[in-house]
Amino acid sequence: MTETTAPMAHPEPVAFPQDRTCPYQPPTAYDPLRTHRPLARVTLFDGRPAWLVTGHATARALLSDPRLSSDRNRPGFPATTPRIAAVRDRRVALLGIDDPEHRAQRRMVVPDFTLRRAAELRPAIQRIVDERLDAMIGQGPPAELVGAFALPVPSMVICSLLGVPYADHEFFEEQSRRLLRGPAPSDTVDARNRLEAYLGELTDDKAKQPGPGEGILDDLVHHQMRDGTLDRADVVSLAVILLIAGHETTANMISLGTYTLLRHPQRLAELRADPALLPAAVEELLRLLSIADGLLRTALEDIEVEGTVIRAGDGVVFATSVINRDESVYAEPDTLDWHRPARHHVGFGFGIHQCLGQNLARAELEIALGTLFARLPGLRLAARPEEIPFKPGDTIQGMLELPVTW
Ligand code: HEM
Repeated sequence: MTETTAPMAHPEPVAFPQDRTCPYQPPTAYDPLRTHRPLARVTLFDGRPAWLVTGHATARALLSDPRLSSDRNRPGFPATTPRIAAVRDRRVALLGIDDPEHRAQRRMVVPDFTLRRAAELRPAIQRIVDERLDAMIGQGPPAELVGAFALPVPSMVICSLLGVPYADHEFFEEQSRRLLRGPAPSDTVDARNRLEAYLGELTDDKAKQPGPGEGILDDLVHHQMRDGTLDRADVVSLAVILLIAGHETTANMISLGTYTLLRHPQRLAELRADPALLPAAVEELLRLLSIADGLLRTALEDIEVEGTVIRAGDGVVFATSVINRDESVYAEPDTLDWHRPARHHVGFGFGIHQCLGQNLARAELEIALGTLFARLPGLRLAARPEEIPFKPGDTIQGMLELPVTW
């Protein structure tokens, strides 16, 4: 299926994905991959081989290369978990489609996610963060930070942005959890069905209204769906991805970011003393934590990379945690250090699928982490660090729970 030519030698394939041993470092099992840049071989859960991109420059070149497809229905698509394999045939807006369809779809939603729009949303995000902290502080100490703060903040933000009622949050958070890390592939299929049914009903309700309400979904229903640019299934699949991507990822960054800062007291003291460091700290956390650790593509044509040929039909996986630790770009890459700029990290991906919500996510992270540490100077872990559970390697990385006190 693949042919390797000199000068690159490939060691024994490593299984991908694997669980992290420390929640903010790549699995130690990936260590051999770090000495094989820019490409290594991995074996997926079903025994199929795939290429693992490990080099920073190669990752950015390949993520911008139209010879790689994001279409999950292609036979070579490297489904990295049984869950992903179980829903491969389902329509995935934006993330699962290639240009030119992708470009047309992205153009419809991009105005809602610009830097300017994120700046306009900052006061509303600050209000949500303050309210959640008031409630948490009112009931504690101690507190479980994922449930009390890290999850509700982005969930409330994306609900108000999309026009989804936050009153339904228990339902959609539970379905997202089952979709992304339910125990069996059938959980993923069922959760996806339930989310589609729920957002389908919401779409129909909005279509019955005389005019659009405040949210992005209202706009899509009353403009793009009405003029035939999108059909109902397109709107529902966009709603599914925006709702899931909009809360799960940021929630994980808040919980894991808090844990990581609490494990680096000197850095945290520095940040508390100089809040102007926050944007650089958030960027460095995005690089170091690389919570979306495995971006998936299929080669449409043969592609040569430094003497190795990725064959048409081969699966290509981007290990962001390894790419973001390329020593030729970041000195001492395992260290949390915002004085060594995290510039050009691939924590949000790169190329046409680079995270649509990155401006929003940065604003949420700066406000959430900045306010949390400012309001609770005595914040600390309420359990031994090694006892605090974090997510397995086959899903977005983050803390399962975060017991804290102050
Ligand atoms: C810190 C939090 C976040 C991280 C680390 C993150 C990470 C990523 C990554 C790595 C990708 C690229 C996937 C690929 O190329 O296969 C991506 C795409 C995407 N993200 Fe995020 N994301 C975050 C927050 C958000 C938020 C708040 C939203 C809001 C809706 C969002 C919406 C999306 C969408 C729609 C895509 C697909 C874009 C496309 O295909 O054109 N993300 N994200």
